[in-house]
Amino acid sequence: MTQFDTLFEQALSALAREDRRRRLRTVDGEGPAQFRRSDGSLLTDFSSNDYLGLSRHPLLAERSAEWGSKAGTGSGSSRLVTGTRSLHERVEAKIAALKGKEAALLFASGWQANASIIPALARLSTEQMGAPALVFSDRLNHASLHHGCAAAGLSQIRFRHNDLTHLETLLEARAGQPGLRLIITESVFSMDGDCADIPALAALAQRHNAFLCVDEAHATGVLGPDGAGLAAGIEGVSLVMGTFSKALGGMGAYVAGSQALCNWLLNAASGFIYSTALPPTVLGAADAALDLLPEMEEQRRLLARRGNWLRERLKEQGWAESGSMTQIVPVMAGEASRALEMAATLEQERMLVVAIRPPTVPKGASRLRIALNAVQTEEELERLVQVLGCCAGGVL
Ligand SMILES: Cc1ncc(COP(=O)(O)O)c(C=O)c1O
Repeated sequence: MTQFDTLFEQALSALAREDRRRRLRTVDGEGPAQFRRSDGSLLTDFSSNDYLGLSRHPLLAERSAEWGSKAGTGSGSSRLVTGTRSLHERVEAKIAALKGKEAALLFASGWQANASIIPALARLSTEQMGAPALVFSDRLNHASLHHGCAAAGLSQIRFRHNDLTHLETLLEARAGQPGLRLIITESVFSMDGDCADIPALAALAQRHNAFLCVDEAHATGVLGPDGAGLAAGIEGVSLVMGTFSKALGGMGAYVAGSQALCNWLLNAASGFIYSTALPPTVLGAADAALDLLPEMEEQRRLLARRGNWLRERLKEQGWAESGSMTQIVPVMAGEASRALEMAATLEQERMLVVAIRPPTVPKGASRLRIALNAVQTEEELERLVQVLGCCAGGVL
């Protein structure tokens, strides 16, 4: 106990009163799409982002162990000190090839990448264009992208979710203003599972001489040619970022773009400069996942089919339509308390679906975020739909 703990407790109680307090829960991985609770019971995973089930693929575990035993468990310093290995360069080359870009640069996490790319681009604008960057961002962008803008001291010009007419109006309104125009979007929105129209955004960016950044965290591995994402091969996308932490079953992140962009980021992105390089164990898993992606077309098709199937079932049950088009399928609960109740009901039935509440989603838009993966069984999906049907019928 310290004299500050009363303050913490008061703040936590305020969160609890609004059903917004978070707690950690421990579940241990146990085979494909299964978690074991501390009481020994198993839960089917409908929440993690391990969409292809790669986190338990033997090739990832094998290469991670092999690279770790050959090159060590840690990199010892930042990439710019003594941390750069040929293994980093190998993974960066594979990412650049997958994304169809000149170069790529690894980061320790997606959060860290987003939080530091934007300040680096903002600095470019101030130093080279003599004016602050103008950031046009989708309203539903991930917290890490908002953090990047805040860290750069930029106030965002937010456009309505996926509304390119609104974006164009905002761009036109600032046509005469100096500074680098940044358009920032996710390609698959993490809490809604809908997609941005990347070709249209790229065309818009080109018309307005804007730098388009696309966060492909939830598309990489799952969508696009060989799982390369929705921005792959589209001209006019200046920067793509993505993570190894979701469909690629590991940890870490990357940015892909021109060589000059990557050279600038390694000079200006503080999350890259002042953080220890990814270790060989993590790189091994990423490298193996990248090798497997082209062979996983069947899993990608399965995810697409299951997404359509689940959306149809939810519609029949009368749930509000969410706009989802992918493996992320929200079930809209409204109030946080209802989302929590539904999650508890599912858990009683041995299914783990986490309730997503404000501030992750807007107030009144709490939901269960169902994340499909290629290793859930049809019986598990049928059971999920059955229990959701009971929730829809008010049998709570
Ligand atoms: C859209 C998006 N971008 C970035 C991140 C951060 O990635 P990481 O988990 O690798 O830090 C996430 C993960 O929650 C995300 O959903």
